[in-house]
Amino acid sequence: MLLSIIRERFADAVSGTSPAADGLLDTIRPAQDPKFGDFQANLAMPLAKQLGKKPRDVAAEIVSNLKIDDICQPPEIAGPGFINLRLKDEFIIQELQTAITDEERLGIPKVNEPKTFVVDYSGPNVAKPMHVGHLRSTVLGNAVCRLLTFYGHRVISDNHLGDWGTQFGMIIYGYRNFLDKKAYQENPVEELSRVYRLVRQKMDDEPSVADAVLNETVKLHSGNEENLKIWREVLPYSRDEIDKIYKRLNITFDYTLGESFYHPFLAPLVNDLLKCGIAVETDGAVGIFFEGDDVPMLIRKKDGAFLYGTTDLATVEYRTKEFKPDVILYITDFRQDLHFKHLFKAVRLINRGTGAAADVELVHIKFGTVLGEDGKPFKTRSGDTVGLNGLLDEAEAKALEVVNTGVGSGTSAAAGKETARKIGLGAVIYADLSQNRESDYVFSYDKMLAMTGNTAAYMQYAVARVKSIFSKGNIGINELRAGNSVSRLQIAEPAERSLALELLKFGEAVEASLRDCRPNGLTAYLFELANKYSTFFEQCPVLKAENETVKTSRLLLCDLTARTLEKGLNLLGIETVERM
Ligand code: ARG
Repeated sequence: MLLSIIRERFADAVSGTSPAADGLLDTIRPAQDPKFGDFQANLAMPLAKQLGKKPRDVAAEIVSNLKIDDICQPPEIAGPGFINLRLKDEFIIQELQTAITDEERLGIPKVNEPKTFVVDYSGPNVAKPMHVGHLRSTVLGNAVCRLLTFYGHRVISDNHLGDWGTQFGMIIYGYRNFLDKKAYQENPVEELSRVYRLVRQKMDDEPSVADAVLNETVKLHSGNEENLKIWREVLPYSRDEIDKIYKRLNITFDYTLGESFYHPFLAPLVNDLLKCGIAVETDGAVGIFFEGDDVPMLIRKKDGAFLYGTTDLATVEYRTKEFKPDVILYITDFRQDLHFKHLFKAVRLINRGTGAAADVELVHIKFGTVLGEDGKPFKTRSGDTVGLNGLLDEAEAKALEVVNTGVGSGTSAAAGKETARKIGLGAVIYADLSQNRESDYVFSYDKMLAMTGNTAAYMQYAVARVKSIFSKGNIGINELRAGNSVSRLQIAEPAERSLALELLKFGEAVEASLRDCRPNGLTAYLFELANKYSTFFEQCPVLKAENETVKTSRLLLCDLTARTLEKGLNLLGIETVERM
């Protein structure tokens, strides 16, 4: 990949000058202004400071050591000691050829040392309707899994369903006291969710209901047959509901080991931790205390109940044994920050205490809140959380309006609906992933479905536009790709060259988005690429190019652009459309 190739050359050139030189390589970046070339290296100034020399002298020294003439024109030193690089056109073309001929990966290599990742994401609490808050974990987790897999890592996705918590106490209590049998038979999901809301309301108003609910939860956890029977009966209904959403988003999990799966491990785990002194009993409750932290991690309550954290401790142990991961990623909102800080500290204590193998790397990938247009957490008009299914329905319906009024009209109704489905879902996914994950963002159908700007629709449109060029021009895509592109590509026009350079930055963008799980790096790149393509498209006629040679070269650039956008969107879990 371009930037890493250039950095390597500089690494060779500065090796031996100063021990800190290696750390300066990331000052080598794409140039802001094409006037100064394609890349700029700003390491001479800090290096000169360290060495007590003049920056321009250091720059000259670096340049004389630099072996880069196969890639670049002779480097230029500017201002106080900037080194400006301009890539040779032949080199750009050769790199493009590598991408063009690599059907699957567009020239992006896999990692040399693949790792095993467990990705813990989505994890909705069943029995409650899945809401917009679960969207971020689901969408982000799916993108992270796709990106890791693309790089050749071993990825195990595990959906840590909340299928054992207090919400079941509420459902069981409601089932016993308020269930409308007939309504339940007709539409169990709807009736259960009505009962759930009713009980929630009553718990706020009457303390005795809260006590009764707690009692039902305790009974369930201690193996009461009747409560288990209700639990087994209602669980599949809400699981089906959740699965429908996964199906819609084309998401599958390798494992769905919910909280209930770990229940049998909890009592022995707490006893073991007490025995070896890692956990301590105070006032009847059991907790793990950490040095320099006033708050312990509670793992068993006074009344004997286990906690969310206890289950997570058992989960780490199970996953470590079963999957032998190098890394476990937890994708949840930032409000669980303290929970995971404690969990990770506890795991390290336990591993040290028990001499378990090297610590697995545990990472909390946190994200912010989805807000409504009023800037408050996204709710429906009646104040309920927004159901995820309804939200996706609405996105598709709004996309259909866009399709029907836009360029896509003229296709059959069924085809239009299918296009709207992809555009609607893509809009929701992209709007989420294009945010800095740690920020809150405002959910707006209008913004996410806009045809221009940093939206999925804009990228999908760019792809469809390329496809329409190919169908209009009757171009055989396979023949086009098969030939030797080195002899056919030319990047004479500034807009061609700038598009070509952008295409070659794809690998770096993908890699950067995976570092610290930030897909917004990739969306920003796709947006830039679509913009460059748009400029190219305005300035460089393709089918009406001045001659066949230029036409072929431009078709190759168009095709690679569409494939890059498609691949990028696909890594994020977004489909593209043939026409729009
Ligand atoms: N069920 C949790 C929630 O809705 C998310 C689970 C996250 N994973 C975990 N291992 N704790 O907040």
